[in-house]
Amino acid sequence: MPVEAPLAQGAPALGAAIDVRGLTKRFGKVAALTDVSFAVARGEILGLIGPNGSGKTTLLRCLTGLLLEDSGTSAIGGHDIHKDPIPARAMMAYLPEVPHPLAYLTPTEHLQFVARAYQLAPGWEARASTILEALDLTEKARSLAIDLSKGQKQKIHLAMAMLRDPQVLVLDEPLIGIDPKGAFVLKRWIKERAGAGAGGVVSSHSLALVEEVCHRVLVLAHGRPVVGGTFDELRRLAHAAPGASLEEVFLTLTAGR
Ligand SMILES: Nc1ncnc2c1ncn2[C@@H]1O[C@H](COP(=O)(O)OP(=O)(O)O)[C@@H](O)[C@H]1O
Ligand SMILES: [Mg+2]
Repeated sequence: MPVEAPLAQGAPALGAAIDVRGLTKRFGKVAALTDVSFAVARGEILGLIGPNGSGKTTLLRCLTGLLLEDSGTSAIGGHDIHKDPIPARAMMAYLPEVPHPLAYLTPTEHLQFVARAYQLAPGWEARASTILEALDLTEKARSLAIDLSKGQKQKIHLAMAMLRDPQVLVLDEPLIGIDPKGAFVLKRWIKERAGAGAGGVVSSHSLALVEEVCHRVLVLAHGRPVVGGTFDELRRLAHAAPGASLEEVFLTLTAGR
């Protein structure tokens, strides 16, 4: 079973949504990431799964350029995240594991900020209203972010991402703290973006989410890629029955690691 997708081998994959090569990151004695490589094609969503502390957040923070790796490279849509950060960031939306909206801006002001920063075409206000409505944030549209619940703060990040129609999604545990309606909107949005040619990586402990929205999975353990592939490939590797749940497959593949 190749842990690296074919796109991660050979010449830089200009067409790839995400191309990560040899990412390594230590925190003191902790090897949070060791030589992680993978690529995500346009139109493809990669599920990133692994136990707590396996390096998922570190990986996503390195590939977005928020955290400096010790070695390795990341490219978004063919743009190196450090050498060419502006086009790389312009393509990408990132949902952090822990929401941190600007405390003294309202949801509406966050969306105004996104519209200005990314120079969205006129008419974005109507889309912003529709998104706030879908996420049940209309009543809180003019409340300060600091006064919102954790799930509502998370929905501000989601609304900001949705307003932009990003070509690359980087989502860190996007379901944690989100209510069922928000989860429905999130899943529908991920599928719509992939259908429109966006690529993405989604870390989650929700194997149901991963099975529903992802085309392929990469399993991390102790900062290393353990196994990667489609659900059918993982089932075969785990010697699981054809209809076996991803949970059974995951537990078999990570047993003893
Ligand atoms: N800022 C940090 N300082 C020190 N250690 C960290 C830091 N961030 C993460 N780690 C460590 O790196 C490892 C991977 O963490 P993380 O990427 O958050 O895992 P996951 O998201 O898979 O739960 C853990 O052992 C964690 O304690
Ligand atoms: Mg994490």
